[in-house]
Amino acid sequence: MKDKLVIFDTTLRDGEQSPGASMTLEEKIRIARMLEKMRVDVIEAGFPAASPGDFKAVNAISKLIKGSTVCGLARANRQDIKKAGEALKPAASSRIHTFIATSPIHMKFKLRMHPDQVVESAVSAIQQARGYTDNVEFSPEDAGRSEFDFLCRIIEEAIRAGAKTINIPDTVGYNLPAQFGELIRNLMEKIPNSDEAIFSTHCHNDLGLAVANSLAAVMQGARQVECTVNGLGERAGNASLEEIVMAVRTRQDEFSCDTDIDATQIVPASRLVSNITGFPVQPNKAIVGANAFAHEAGIHQDGVIKARETYEIMSAEEVGWGSNRMVLGKHSGRNAFRQRLKTLGFEFGSDQELDDVFCRFKDMADRKHEIYDNDLQALVTESGNIAENERFKLKHLQVHSQTGQTPHAKVVVEVDGVDVNAEDSGNGAVDATFRAIEKIIDSGSELQLYSVNSITSGTDAQGEVSVRLQKDGWIVNGHGADLDIIIASAKSYINALNKLVSSESRMHPQLAEAI
Ligand code: KIV
Ligand code: ZN
Repeated sequence: MKDKLVIFDTTLRDGEQSPGASMTLEEKIRIARMLEKMRVDVIEAGFPAASPGDFKAVNAISKLIKGSTVCGLARANRQDIKKAGEALKPAASSRIHTFIATSPIHMKFKLRMHPDQVVESAVSAIQQARGYTDNVEFSPEDAGRSEFDFLCRIIEEAIRAGAKTINIPDTVGYNLPAQFGELIRNLMEKIPNSDEAIFSTHCHNDLGLAVANSLAAVMQGARQVECTVNGLGERAGNASLEEIVMAVRTRQDEFSCDTDIDATQIVPASRLVSNITGFPVQPNKAIVGANAFAHEAGIHQDGVIKARETYEIMSAEEVGWGSNRMVLGKHSGRNAFRQRLKTLGFEFGSDQELDDVFCRFKDMADRKHEIYDNDLQALVTESGNIAENERFKLKHLQVHSQTGQTPHAKVVVEVDGVDVNAEDSGNGAVDATFRAIEKIIDSGSELQLYSVNSITSGTDAQGEVSVRLQKDGWIVNGHGADLDIIIASAKSYINALNKLVSSESRMHPQLAEAI
């Protein structure tokens, strides 16, 4: 009988700390639902004390998610623990994750605290958290650069105070695999009450070693891994969920544990996170990159045709790469449409939601002959991107572009229910369109990213556009898809502007000064 390896996903917390990866409440809920469907054990939904928006997100996710434990992050102080406990109240299963830095450099310069005070704060935070839930996790932040004897001391006290999970973060991605594995083994051997807690890893990827370090720790007895979809996260990111899960599953000959993850949800989750954050997945990324299962060399193709295992250690289907079959067209009915989406993992809360997406599908079918699974996925994601009470809506766009002439755009945008017209010229058709929209909305924001992806191949493929806007230190991502990439660009720009007007500022957990 194999041990269980707990998968703790922190895409919504550490992942969101990636510069530019901010998400709206609706987006966080969509990702949380996807993680639940993937059978992630613990979803770290946010840092409730960081902002009212974070509190709301953790609270909303706590109400909705029943199949995974919902976790909230809290620094080791009374206000943070209280906020986390309150936000998590409705959860069927909740966890409070409290942390305090233990490395000499963090204690001296960031916290300005004596090690004895750090131990005291950790113990009292854990005791307070136990008043809200039995499921308390403690992290000695920057454990990877902390003194071993001090780590043993604070962890022993943390377990005695009631922490059931001890997470060992390599906060700055400094450790090497053999060293990190040894650290976990030594801690588990030396701490007298270590058998009363599950040891966990939380590795950052500054040296590209987050997955290797996490796996080395699992080899030495860690039974929880903290990770994110697509390896999203602070700086170079966190250990990637898909790589951890598939390494453990593919090398069951080496691991004495396995996860409960439904791996067929890995690729859909990767697409969803990439679409929402605007962070593209590199083509050669393991498991979820577009080329992860593509064989270019003739000799490889020949081998795979004869026996897949000659060059593939996993199957594409196992991790959720569908066949992208052409299934529907202009004559397809509502039932066939609903059935296909169900097969792709999409279900609708109400008939109204289904009707809206079906209308968009019919509109697309009039313009595009062959509709693939990827088109349907983009269509549903695009509908989810449009919140109900948006202030700005694209009503009409006309662009004139001709060799030797300056492109010119005319737009009509509905602003709070009133149609407003504007026109402008620009360096290109997209520039002219964005300028015309800005004439109406006058957001004063700065465009930080503009990217176009084609959803399927061929010149009639849908274009998926992501833009990132920045204003007063607040960053939002907008998305839009259309057969016409200029229209997709306008939709994504307006989507970002809608988010900008409803944004709330938040605090960064590791930059926050006061404990
Ligand atoms: O990287 C880190 O140390 C963290 C902690 C809050 C666990 O994210
Ligand atoms: Zn982290």
